[in-house]
Amino acid sequence: MHSRKSRQTRNIRARCRSLDNPGKALPRHAVWTGDCHELLRLLPKATKFDLVVASPPYNLGKEYESRASFKKYLRMQADLIEELVPRVKMNGSLCWQVGNYVENGFIEPLDIHLHPLFSEHGLILRNRIIWRFGHGLHCKRRFSGRYEVVLWYTRSENYVFNLDSVRIPSKYPGKRNSRGVYTGHPSGRKNPEDVWDIPNVVGNHREKTIHPCQFPVGLIERLILALTNARGLVFDPFCGVGSAGVAAAIHARRFLGAECVRSYAAIARRRISAALCGEADYRPHDQPIYDHRKSKLSVLPHSRAATVTRSR
Ligand SMILES: C[S@@+](CC[C@H](N)C(=O)[O-])C[C@H]1O[C@@H](n2cnc3c(N)ncnc32)[C@H](O)[C@@H]1O
Repeated sequence: MHSRKSRQTRNIRARCRSLDNPGKALPRHAVWTGDCHELLRLLPKATKFDLVVASPPYNLGKEYESRASFKKYLRMQADLIEELVPRVKMNGSLCWQVGNYVENGFIEPLDIHLHPLFSEHGLILRNRIIWRFGHGLHCKRRFSGRYEVVLWYTRSENYVFNLDSVRIPSKYPGKRNSRGVYTGHPSGRKNPEDVWDIPNVVGNHREKTIHPCQFPVGLIERLILALTNARGLVFDPFCGVGSAGVAAAIHARRFLGAECVRSYAAIARRRISAALCGEADYRPHDQPIYDHRKSKLSVLPHSRAATVTRSR
Protein backbone atom coordinates (compact mmCIF):
# COMPACT_ATOMS: atom_id res chain seq x y z
CA MET A 1 0.00 0.00 0.00
CA HIS A 2 1.60 3.29 -1.11
CA SER A 3 1.08 6.49 0.87
CA ARG A 4 -0.57 9.46 -0.84
CA LYS A 5 2.71 11.33 -0.60
CA SER A 6 4.78 8.71 -2.38
CA ARG A 7 2.08 8.39 -5.10
CA GLN A 8 2.17 12.15 -5.65
CA THR A 9 5.96 12.10 -5.73
CA ARG A 10 5.94 9.37 -8.39
CA ASN A 11 3.33 11.28 -10.39
CA ILE A 12 5.31 14.49 -10.54
CA ARG A 13 8.47 12.60 -11.51
CA ALA A 14 6.56 10.89 -14.31
CA ARG A 15 5.23 14.24 -15.49
CA CYS A 16 8.69 15.74 -15.48
CA ARG A 17 10.07 12.80 -17.42
CA SER A 18 7.23 13.04 -19.91
CA LEU A 19 8.54 16.42 -21.02
CA ASP A 20 11.59 14.63 -22.40
CA ASN A 21 9.18 13.21 -24.98
CA PRO A 22 8.06 16.22 -27.02
CA GLY A 23 5.10 14.32 -28.41
CA LYS A 24 3.34 14.41 -25.03
CA ALA A 25 1.16 17.18 -23.67
CA LEU A 26 2.77 19.79 -21.43
CA PRO A 27 2.75 18.55 -17.82
CA ARG A 28 1.84 20.90 -14.97
CA HIS A 29 5.32 20.97 -13.42
CA ALA A 30 8.38 19.87 -15.31
CA VAL A 31 12.11 20.28 -15.31
CA TRP A 32 13.89 19.65 -18.58
CA THR A 33 17.45 18.39 -18.26
CA GLY A 34 19.29 20.16 -21.04
CA ASP A 35 19.77 23.40 -22.87
CA CYS A 36 17.00 25.99 -22.62
CA HIS A 37 17.24 26.87 -26.34
CA GLU A 38 16.60 23.24 -27.22
CA LEU A 39 13.59 23.12 -24.94
CA LEU A 40 12.17 26.31 -26.48
CA ARG A 41 12.57 24.78 -29.93
CA LEU A 42 10.73 21.62 -28.84
CA LEU A 43 7.78 23.40 -27.25
CA PRO A 44 4.64 23.82 -29.33
CA LYS A 45 4.33 27.34 -30.77
CA ALA A 46 1.10 27.80 -28.83
CA THR A 47 2.81 27.42 -25.44
CA LYS A 48 2.97 30.89 -23.90
CA PHE A 49 4.19 31.89 -20.48
CA ASP A 50 2.53 34.13 -17.93
CA LEU A 51 5.89 34.82 -16.36
CA VAL A 52 9.46 34.18 -17.43
CA VAL A 53 11.79 34.53 -14.48
CA ALA A 54 15.50 33.87 -14.69
CA SER A 55 18.81 34.31 -13.05
CA PRO A 56 21.13 33.73 -16.01
CA PRO A 57 24.78 32.76 -15.61
CA TYR A 58 26.81 35.94 -15.02
CA ASN A 59 29.77 34.70 -17.08
CA LEU A 60 31.94 34.48 -13.96
CA GLY A 61 33.35 31.03 -14.75
CA LYS A 62 31.25 29.23 -12.09
CA GLU A 63 31.34 25.45 -12.21
CA TYR A 64 28.27 25.35 -14.49
CA GLU A 65 29.44 27.87 -17.10
CA SER A 66 32.35 28.35 -19.47
CA ARG A 67 33.54 31.91 -19.49
CA ALA A 68 33.02 33.68 -22.84
CA SER A 69 34.14 37.14 -23.91
CA PHE A 70 31.75 39.76 -22.57
CA LYS A 71 30.66 40.60 -26.12
CA LYS A 72 29.86 36.96 -26.86
CA TYR A 73 28.05 36.61 -23.54
CA LEU A 74 25.80 39.57 -24.37
CA ARG A 75 25.16 38.12 -27.85
CA MET A 76 24.04 34.82 -26.24
CA GLN A 77 21.74 36.70 -23.88
CA ALA A 78 20.34 38.70 -26.81
CA ASP A 79 19.58 35.48 -28.73
CA LEU A 80 17.73 33.99 -25.78
CA ILE A 81 15.76 37.17 -25.10
CA GLU A 82 14.71 37.20 -28.76
CA GLU A 83 13.44 33.62 -28.43
CA LEU A 84 11.66 34.31 -25.16
CA VAL A 85 9.78 37.54 -25.87
CA PRO A 86 7.20 36.04 -28.29
CA ARG A 87 6.60 33.27 -25.73
CA VAL A 88 5.42 35.73 -23.07
CA LYS A 89 1.67 36.35 -23.03
CA MET A 90 0.62 39.87 -23.91
CA ASN A 91 -0.51 40.43 -20.28
CA GLY A 92 2.54 38.58 -18.94
CA SER A 93 5.89 39.58 -17.50
CA LEU A 94 9.56 38.82 -17.86
CA CYS A 95 11.93 39.19 -14.89
CA TRP A 96 15.71 38.99 -15.27
CA GLN A 97 17.72 38.81 -12.06
CA VAL A 98 21.34 39.88 -12.45
CA GLY A 99 24.38 41.10 -10.57
CA ASN A 100 27.73 42.26 -11.89
CA TYR A 101 30.17 40.80 -14.34
CA VAL A 102 33.63 41.28 -12.83
CA GLU A 103 36.92 41.13 -14.73
CA ASN A 104 40.32 42.16 -13.37
CA GLY A 105 38.59 44.19 -10.66
CA PHE A 106 36.42 46.05 -13.21
CA ILE A 107 32.69 45.89 -12.64
CA GLU A 108 30.16 45.74 -15.47
CA PRO A 109 26.61 46.09 -14.07
CA LEU A 110 24.77 43.53 -16.18
CA ASP A 111 21.39 45.26 -15.96
CA ILE A 112 22.79 48.34 -17.71
CA HIS A 113 24.11 46.23 -20.60
CA LEU A 114 21.03 44.03 -20.82
CA HIS A 115 18.31 46.70 -20.68
CA PRO A 116 18.70 47.72 -24.37
CA LEU A 117 18.36 44.05 -25.35
CA PHE A 118 14.91 43.97 -23.73
CA SER A 119 13.71 47.42 -24.75
CA GLU A 120 14.53 46.82 -28.43
CA HIS A 121 11.70 44.24 -28.38
CA GLY A 122 9.25 46.83 -27.09
CA LEU A 123 9.26 45.46 -23.54
CA ILE A 124 8.29 48.00 -20.90
CA LEU A 125 10.46 48.25 -17.78
CA ARG A 126 8.10 48.43 -14.77
CA ASN A 127 10.63 48.23 -11.97
CA ARG A 128 14.31 47.84 -11.42
CA ILE A 129 14.06 46.02 -8.12
CA ILE A 130 16.99 46.13 -5.76
CA TRP A 131 17.39 42.80 -4.00
CA ARG A 132 19.45 43.58 -0.91
CA PHE A 133 21.03 40.85 1.21
CA GLY A 134 23.28 40.72 4.21
CA HIS A 135 26.06 38.29 3.39
CA GLY A 136 28.87 38.08 0.87
CA LEU A 137 32.55 38.68 0.28
CA HIS A 138 34.29 41.38 2.29
CA CYS A 139 36.12 43.56 -0.23
CA LYS A 140 39.36 45.35 0.54
CA ARG A 141 39.59 47.78 -2.41
CA ARG A 142 35.94 48.71 -2.92
CA PHE A 143 32.70 48.62 -0.93
CA SER A 144 31.42 45.09 -0.40
CA GLY A 145 28.59 44.26 -2.82
CA ARG A 146 25.30 43.59 -1.06
CA TYR A 147 22.64 43.88 -3.74
CA GLU A 148 21.61 42.51 -7.08
CA VAL A 149 18.89 43.66 -9.45
CA VAL A 150 15.65 42.26 -10.85
CA LEU A 151 14.55 43.89 -14.09
CA TRP A 152 10.77 43.49 -14.42
CA TYR A 153 9.34 43.98 -17.91
CA THR A 154 5.84 43.66 -19.32
CA ARG A 155 4.81 43.21 -22.93
CA SER A 156 1.92 45.67 -22.78
CA GLU A 157 0.09 48.18 -20.61
CA ASN A 158 -2.50 45.54 -19.76
CA TYR A 159 -0.58 43.31 -17.38
CA VAL A 160 -1.26 41.19 -14.29
CA PHE A 161 -0.27 42.93 -11.06
CA ASN A 162 -1.78 41.54 -7.84
CA LEU A 163 -0.51 44.08 -5.34
CA ASP A 164 -2.78 42.92 -2.51
CA SER A 165 -1.22 39.45 -2.49
CA VAL A 166 2.27 40.80 -1.71
CA ARG A 167 1.62 43.63 0.72
CA ILE A 168 3.87 43.81 3.77
CA PRO A 169 3.12 45.32 7.20
CA SER A 170 3.05 49.14 7.19
CA LYS A 171 5.32 50.99 9.57
CA TYR A 172 2.53 53.22 10.91
CA PRO A 173 -0.86 51.59 10.19
CA GLY A 174 -2.47 53.80 12.85
CA LYS A 175 -1.36 57.07 11.22
CA ARG A 176 -4.11 59.61 10.42
CA ASN A 177 -4.08 62.87 8.49
CA SER A 178 -5.13 66.27 9.92
CA ARG A 179 -8.81 65.40 9.32
CA GLY A 180 -8.49 62.20 11.38
CA VAL A 181 -8.64 59.90 8.34
CA TYR A 182 -6.30 56.88 8.27
CA THR A 183 -3.69 57.46 5.58
CA GLY A 184 -2.58 53.90 4.92
CA HIS A 185 -4.22 50.88 3.31
CA PRO A 186 -7.13 49.50 5.44
CA SER A 187 -5.35 46.15 5.75
CA GLY A 188 -2.45 47.81 7.58
CA ARG A 189 -0.20 46.45 4.85
CA LYS A 190 1.69 48.41 2.22
CA ASN A 191 3.25 48.03 -1.22
CA PRO A 192 6.56 46.14 -0.70
CA GLU A 193 8.37 48.89 -2.69
CA ASP A 194 11.30 48.29 -4.99
CA VAL A 195 14.04 47.53 -2.46
CA TRP A 196 13.62 44.00 -1.14
CA ASP A 197 15.49 42.75 1.90
CA ILE A 198 15.59 38.98 1.46
CA PRO A 199 18.51 36.92 2.77
CA ASN A 200 20.62 35.23 0.09
CA VAL A 201 20.99 31.46 0.21
CA VAL A 202 24.38 30.96 1.81
CA GLY A 203 25.83 29.18 4.86
CA ASN A 204 23.16 27.53 6.95
CA HIS A 205 20.16 29.05 5.15
CA ARG A 206 17.35 26.49 5.36
CA GLU A 207 17.01 26.36 1.53
CA LYS A 208 20.72 25.72 0.84
CA THR A 209 21.52 22.88 -1.56
CA ILE A 210 24.71 22.02 -3.44
CA HIS A 211 24.05 24.85 -5.94
CA PRO A 212 26.54 27.74 -5.58
CA CYS A 213 24.02 30.52 -6.34
CA GLN A 214 20.39 29.59 -6.00
CA PHE A 215 17.51 32.08 -5.73
CA PRO A 216 15.87 32.42 -2.33
CA VAL A 217 12.37 31.03 -2.88
CA GLY A 218 10.90 34.16 -1.23
CA LEU A 219 12.33 36.43 -3.95
CA ILE A 220 10.53 34.50 -6.67
CA GLU A 221 7.47 33.91 -4.50
CA ARG A 222 6.83 37.65 -4.40
CA LEU A 223 7.19 37.94 -8.18
CA ILE A 224 4.97 34.93 -8.84
CA LEU A 225 2.23 36.09 -6.47
CA ALA A 226 2.24 39.62 -7.86
CA LEU A 227 2.69 38.92 -11.56
CA THR A 228 0.66 35.76 -12.18
CA ASN A 229 -2.76 34.38 -11.34
CA ALA A 230 -3.47 30.86 -10.05
CA ARG A 231 -2.65 28.16 -12.65
CA GLY A 232 -0.48 30.61 -14.61
CA LEU A 233 2.55 29.10 -16.35
CA VAL A 234 5.96 30.18 -15.02
CA PHE A 235 9.10 29.46 -17.05
CA ASP A 236 12.69 29.55 -15.79
CA PRO A 237 15.22 28.86 -18.57
CA PHE A 238 18.10 28.54 -16.05
CA CYS A 239 16.26 26.81 -13.28
CA GLY A 240 19.19 25.43 -11.26
CA VAL A 241 17.79 23.58 -8.27
CA GLY A 242 14.27 24.74 -9.05
CA SER A 243 13.68 27.56 -6.58
CA ALA A 244 11.23 29.23 -8.98
CA GLY A 245 9.48 25.88 -9.40
CA VAL A 246 9.14 25.55 -5.63
CA ALA A 247 7.55 28.99 -5.39
CA ALA A 248 5.21 28.12 -8.28
CA ALA A 249 4.20 24.80 -6.71
CA ILE A 250 3.49 26.38 -3.31
CA HIS A 251 1.14 28.89 -4.93
CA ALA A 252 -0.70 26.66 -7.42
CA ARG A 253 1.04 27.96 -10.53
CA ARG A 254 2.34 25.66 -13.29
CA PHE A 255 6.06 25.53 -13.87
CA LEU A 256 8.48 24.65 -16.59
CA GLY A 257 12.25 24.88 -16.11
CA ALA A 258 15.38 24.02 -18.04
CA GLU A 259 18.63 23.09 -16.38
CA CYS A 260 21.68 21.75 -18.19
CA VAL A 261 23.38 20.17 -15.14
CA ARG A 262 21.75 16.81 -14.44
CA SER A 263 22.38 16.80 -10.68
CA TYR A 264 20.78 20.26 -10.25
CA ALA A 265 17.79 19.23 -12.36
CA ALA A 266 17.33 16.13 -10.15
CA ILE A 267 17.36 18.29 -7.01
CA ALA A 268 14.91 20.68 -8.65
CA ARG A 269 12.47 17.82 -9.28
CA ARG A 270 12.79 16.59 -5.70
CA ARG A 271 12.22 20.07 -4.26
CA ILE A 272 9.20 20.70 -6.49
CA SER A 273 7.73 17.31 -5.55
CA ALA A 274 8.13 18.17 -1.87
CA ALA A 275 6.50 21.56 -2.40
CA LEU A 276 3.55 19.94 -4.17
CA CYS A 277 3.14 17.68 -1.12
CA GLY A 278 3.06 20.76 1.11
CA GLU A 279 6.55 20.03 2.42
CA ALA A 280 8.59 22.93 1.04
CA ASP A 281 11.16 24.07 3.55
CA TYR A 282 11.49 27.74 2.65
CA ARG A 283 11.67 31.25 3.98
CA PRO A 284 8.55 33.24 2.94
CA HIS A 285 9.02 36.60 1.20
CA ASP A 286 7.41 38.55 4.04
CA GLN A 287 9.29 36.99 6.94
CA PRO A 288 11.01 39.79 8.90
CA ILE A 289 14.79 39.93 8.72
CA TYR A 290 16.49 38.34 11.74
CA ASP A 291 17.60 40.98 14.23
CA HIS A 292 21.30 40.18 14.52
CA ARG A 293 21.46 42.03 17.86
CA LYS A 294 19.73 39.02 19.42
CA SER A 295 22.88 36.97 18.82
CA LYS A 296 25.66 36.99 21.37
CA LEU A 297 28.05 37.12 18.41
CA SER A 298 26.88 40.69 17.75
CA VAL A 299 28.81 41.95 20.78
CA LEU A 300 32.50 42.67 20.31
CA PRO A 301 34.31 40.44 22.85
CA HIS A 302 36.09 42.40 25.58
CA SER A 303 39.49 40.94 24.60
CA ARG A 304 39.15 42.15 20.98
CA ALA A 305 37.81 45.57 22.01
CA ALA A 306 40.91 46.06 24.17
CA THR A 307 43.16 45.20 21.16
CA VAL A 308 41.34 47.75 18.96
CA THR A 309 41.68 50.50 21.60
CA ARG A 310 45.40 49.79 22.02
CA SER A 311 46.10 49.87 18.26
CA ARG A 312 44.44 53.30 17.76
C1 LIG B 1 22.58 31.49 -11.71
S1 LIG B 1 22.14 29.82 -11.82
C2 LIG B 1 20.41 29.87 -11.51
C3 LIG B 1 20.02 29.21 -10.23
C4 LIG B 1 18.53 29.11 -10.02
N1 LIG B 1 17.88 30.39 -10.09
C5 LIG B 1 18.22 28.42 -8.68
O1 LIG B 1 17.52 29.00 -7.86
O2 LIG B 1 18.71 27.32 -8.47
C6 LIG B 1 22.17 29.51 -13.55
C7 LIG B 1 21.86 28.07 -13.90
O3 LIG B 1 21.69 27.97 -15.31
C8 LIG B 1 22.22 26.73 -15.77
N2 LIG B 1 22.48 26.91 -17.20
C9 LIG B 1 23.48 27.61 -17.77
N3 LIG B 1 23.33 27.64 -19.12
C10 LIG B 1 22.20 26.95 -19.40
C11 LIG B 1 21.48 26.65 -20.59
N4 LIG B 1 21.92 27.05 -21.79
N5 LIG B 1 20.33 25.94 -20.50
C12 LIG B 1 19.88 25.52 -19.27
N6 LIG B 1 20.52 25.77 -18.12
C13 LIG B 1 21.64 26.49 -18.17
C14 LIG B 1 23.43 26.50 -14.88
O4 LIG B 1 23.78 25.15 -14.79
C15 LIG B 1 22.97 27.10 -13.53
O5 LIG B 1 22.45 26.10 -12.69
